Amino acid sequence: MADRYLNFTGTAPGRFLTRRTGLPQPARLRRWTAEHPEFSGQLLHFTAGASAWRGELSELLGRTGLDVRGSLSGRDLEAARPVGVVVDATAAADLDALAEVHAALHPVVRSLATSGRVIVLGAPLSPDDHHQAAAQQALEGFVRSLGKEIGRGRTVNLVRVAGAVGAAESTLRFLLSPRSAYVSGQVIEVGAPDGEPAPLEDWAAPLAGRTALVTGAARGIGEAVAETLVRDGARVVLLDVPSAEADLSKVAERLGGRALPLDITAEDAGERIAGFTGDGGLDILVHNAGITRDRRLANMPAERWRSVLDVNLAGVLRTTDSLLKAGALRRGGSIVATASIAGIAGNTGQTNYAASKAGVIGLVRSLAPRALAEHGVTVNAVAPGFIETKMTAAVPLFIREAGRRMNSLGQGGLPVDVAETTAWFASPASGAVNGQVVRVCGQSLLGA
Ligand SMILES: NC(=O)c1ccc[n+]([C@@H]2O[C@H](COP(=O)([O-])OP(=O)(O)OC[C@H]3O[C@@H](n4cnc5c(N)ncnc54)[C@H](O)[C@@H]3O)[C@@H](O)[C@H]2O)c1
Repeated sequence: MADRYLNFTGTAPGRFLTRRTGLPQPARLRRWTAEHPEFSGQLLHFTAGASAWRGELSELLGRTGLDVRGSLSGRDLEAARPVGVVVDATAAADLDALAEVHAALHPVVRSLATSGRVIVLGAPLSPDDHHQAAAQQALEGFVRSLGKEIGRGRTVNLVRVAGAVGAAESTLRFLLSPRSAYVSGQVIEVGAPDGEPAPLEDWAAPLAGRTALVTGAARGIGEAVAETLVRDGARVVLLDVPSAEADLSKVAERLGGRALPLDITAEDAGERIAGFTGDGGLDILVHNAGITRDRRLANMPAERWRSVLDVNLAGVLRTTDSLLKAGALRRGGSIVATASIAGIAGNTGQTNYAASKAGVIGLVRSLAPRALAEHGVTVNAVAPGFIETKMTAAVPLFIREAGRRMNSLGQGGLPVDVAETTAWFASPASGAVNGQVVRVCGQSLLGA
């Protein structure tokens, strides 16, 4: 569904009118295109406190292809309009270091390009040092506030690095690229993996040689996920309900994938998937199929409750268990589940849906460490906010318009935004990203 307001504010009369009336002016976000897959230009790299990673981080940032600078001021800054700023606050343990974060960003933030990126690197909170914990938690409030005020399609995120900074390369590359256009106000923890992550031969095709299964792939977000995984080099198996077989086959044909018409709530869905993929097995399992059956609890018959919980949660639990038990997911693989900001914030009329999506988050948090230890597989979730699909096109106009605007970027996301985050989770270079729930919501006010 077209966002007419966004289209209008992109025109000269639209810009004039919104400026005069003080109405919101959402920026057209810069997303991945084949012609311009990456940002180009200058990236500022600052350090707050005495970081152990200064040299290594500088090299890592240089590998993004951006022109990394340690300082830029005055006319140079205005002329360069840097595309990103990275502030390494991993060693911040007191208020002096926090003041350095302010000192680094205060002079440059206004000059950051439209759709530019601010990334603050932090560390996990120390259980033994409450001064360090205070400083590190302060970064979260700082990032979330800057995300709300920065405007012009620019995003602000915090990456907490638990181990070596090298393990955060895939995450930093993702956040410093057009792929993360609708991800803002997030806190992402990158763990300390055993050993170094496998070096990627080709960052443009990180999923080469991998096989992915995407549920609910006949349309909407699932279709976009499949398309993005194929773009990144994966082979895909596309699953959807038998009644959607015609659409599913069309998508499969377009993407050179294989269609598996199957209801994910079937008791034997896991076995049927394993049988279909055969000895080749799977590297990536994307649980995307989902439904809504909204009603306030007082008006909700058991059938509406059951159907939503069945598809969105029971199907996910059952197929995950079955595929892990059968060893159908290869080591180095990943499971990406689809939650929702409704599962974080709650939503009127969605007790069933929010319960199912909160359940997905519980599953991810509990299973992630065990799945990695026992099966070598990461488990993460995307939590979309308002995404322009058939599901949200069915929402009444007023609520739909509110959903679109009530976020820091002033617009709805696109299916591809959820797909890009899924692809980053699924990358073999993201092995240190585990148990994370990343909202793809433009920093929605719901559940913020
Ligand atoms: N669109 C949004 O704004 C939004 C926001 C938050 C979360 N989500 C979640 O993202 C996912 C995709 O949403 P969408 O907007 O693309 O929805 P959609 O309705 O456009 O597509 C969902 C797909 O899942 C399939 N499906 C439903 N039940 C199934 C079953 N039992 N077995 C197999 N396939 C089944 C449908 O046939 C459909 O093709 C869902 O899990 C949804 O809850 C969407």
